[in-house]
Amino acid sequence: MDHDIKDITLADAGRLRIEWAEKNMPVLRLIRERFAREKPLRGVKVACCLHVTTETANLMETLKAGGAELRLCGSNPLSTQDDVAASLVKHTRIGVFAVRGEDNKRYYAHIAAVLANKPNVTIDDGADLVSELHRSKNGTGDIWAGLEETTTGVVRLRAMEHEGVLKYPVLAVNDSETKHFFDNRYGTGQSTIDGIIRATNHLMAGSRFVVVGYGWCGRGVTTRARGMGAEVIVCEVEPVKALEAVMDGLRVMPLAQAAKVGDVFVTLTGNCAVIRKEHFVKMKDGAVVANSGHFNVEIDIEALEKLSVKKRHIRHEVVEYQLKDGRRIHLLGEGRLINLAAAEGHPAMVMDMSFANQALGAEYIVKNRRKLPQGVFSIPKRIDKDIARLKLKSMGVKIDGLTPAQRKYLSEWRVGT
Ligand code: NAI
Repeated sequence: MDHDIKDITLADAGRLRIEWAEKNMPVLRLIRERFAREKPLRGVKVACCLHVTTETANLMETLKAGGAELRLCGSNPLSTQDDVAASLVKHTRIGVFAVRGEDNKRYYAHIAAVLANKPNVTIDDGADLVSELHRSKNGTGDIWAGLEETTTGVVRLRAMEHEGVLKYPVLAVNDSETKHFFDNRYGTGQSTIDGIIRATNHLMAGSRFVVVGYGWCGRGVTTRARGMGAEVIVCEVEPVKALEAVMDGLRVMPLAQAAKVGDVFVTLTGNCAVIRKEHFVKMKDGAVVANSGHFNVEIDIEALEKLSVKKRHIRHEVVEYQLKDGRRIHLLGEGRLINLAAAEGHPAMVMDMSFANQALGAEYIVKNRRKLPQGVFSIPKRIDKDIARLKLKSMGVKIDGLTPAQRKYLSEWRVGT
């Protein structure tokens, strides 16, 4: 008789979930098959700091098939899926330094353990590897280049570049169109709502849902929340983005005003202290507050703690804060990215493209090692387009091509000649 899922070990349960994700990662599968034949990463030491999810496991297996020597740590204390970490150690035989719920000290000890392998390539989600390396008195060692997955990481790296302190080139995977168009918009869009619902079982229909930050992620969350019947209110600081939200048919107002009417609040700004004391004091009894931006700095939890007279862990990933006048505010997932803290992160279908960028980006770095310019730059456009082409093919979608006459027309400036 086949064994029951309850009987199998953590690592084996993780293996099954990794296989499940693999079914929806056809582009990465193709890359893995080629990597296994060509071994483009043979002997290359790759240090990875990523959310330890089933999709990341598929990236690890792809890089390993290419011949890379890998170490992996988590890029957020609450995003590690322990069954996946166990499976990567047991079945894929790579060094994983991550455990869900690790404290700050352990989080940084794990980063140090990954860097102790003296990598040639770093793969980051949030730039913690790069910043720890630059802080270390041992210097950056023999690093050829790095790859960065997310918006906040790219913002940090550009700040380092601007200050002239970034010591090695980094490819901003987030800049690829096959990354942020899909991962940030559809991936964060769906999984953020998934996390909020799993944590609260909240009914979206008819609720006032406040989205703070109308960037790629914010727009994704908004569209999905509207589709489920929520009345979405957008808060922004950039006039163009705010105008876009207005013309998308949304209500736009300052957060101080939205605070009085919202049922659910979610931050997706990449900024700090976005929801603060002045907002908490105006919120309705029962308000739900969550974050899906990279760091847990978007909600001023310290201010909420100070305002509260009582605090209870009321559900998994929900803490209820009671204010002096009896109103209760519910904070989800300790203010950490809720799609990973309370759900499973992005669906494999979008991570297929993000991680195809990572795998092909790593190959590009190895091919061009010691020739890349300093600074933060994008993955070459042809790689981005190839990924889109492969994804369409895997979905059975065909598109038109330019005719020679159209190609010629688009390359000329004399119309009608
Ligand atoms: P983005 O740059 O496209 O959008 C951020 C938006 O927030 C901008 O429109 C900006 O004007 C706005 N903003 C900044 N400060 C604000 C404030 N105080 N109040 C209101 N709006 C403000 O960035 P993107 O790609 O949407 O990413 C947002 C965050 O989500 C980043 O931290 C990114 O790293 C993270 N992220 C999280 C993922 C997840 O799995 N949860 C996946 C992808 C990105």
